[in-house]
Amino acid sequence: MRTEIVECDNVSKHFIIGTNVVKAVQGVDMILREGEFTSIVGPSGSGKTTLLNLIGTLEVPTRGKIIINNTDLSSFSNYELTNFRRKNLGFVFQFFNLIEGLTSEENIELPLIFDSVPYEERKTRVNQIIKEFDLEHLNGKFPEELSSGERQRVAIMRALINNPVMLLADEPTGNLDTKTGQAVLDLFKELNEERGTSIALVTHDLAAAKRAKRILHMHDGKITFDQQDLDVEIPEPKSKI
Ligand SMILES: Nc1ncnc2c1ncn2[C@@H]1O[C@H](COP(=O)(O)OP(=O)(O)OP(=O)(O)O)[C@@H](O)[C@H]1O
Ligand SMILES: [Mg+2]
Repeated sequence: MRTEIVECDNVSKHFIIGTNVVKAVQGVDMILREGEFTSIVGPSGSGKTTLLNLIGTLEVPTRGKIIINNTDLSSFSNYELTNFRRKNLGFVFQFFNLIEGLTSEENIELPLIFDSVPYEERKTRVNQIIKEFDLEHLNGKFPEELSSGERQRVAIMRALINNPVMLLADEPTGNLDTKTGQAVLDLFKELNEERGTSIALVTHDLAAAKRAKRILHMHDGKITFDQQDLDVEIPEPKSKI
């Protein structure tokens, strides 16, 4: 059995707007394991981003408990959550969120600076990851000089630089053309299969979701269906003689 890295125990998130209560996530029970590539799909407003942000500690549950990497986050202060997030989680967003005034390698280095990693080690680790993914040609370039696909690659490297226990991606292909989006999805698959990176990918695109081995379907803040072992072929029923 693989190690559990995320456990949601009856997790709800409600937003209060004026006199209205929006039940964005309602009573979710879920376990994500090490090395799993999971997609979260569902219509707009079904709670995908809210659930991902709860796992990512960017939102705090209204009710229920979230355990990540054997750590119960229920009683953590904002300061503790920020530290925990920096050390344990990597984020990839639809709009890349790169810092415009920094080069590719400086953007990738940023999480290590926040994590107080010494200068020499930072340079070594950044160079290593750039080399591993053949991105040397992007060195010295600023985000505005990169194509959207290149920007997303830099953002993925930045998310991976602190060796997170899980990569969390919210519509990472939402701002890319079909071909570039496919290439980014290929990279996620490669990361999962060759490096064993655990990934949670939010998308409204079922074809993109199918790159994962598991698909969680959301509706009205609830997980309505959990499709597992998608790469296991279902054998044809044997015909009776
Ligand atoms: N910060 C917030 N304040 C108030 N309501 C919110 C907030 N964030 C999300 N919601 C509401 O919670 C519900 C779920 O939103 P969420 O963004 O999680 O859905 P989603 O599945 O990611 O949708 P989309 O596919 O459009 O990105 C929606 O009704 C949304 O309006
Ligand atoms: Mg969303």
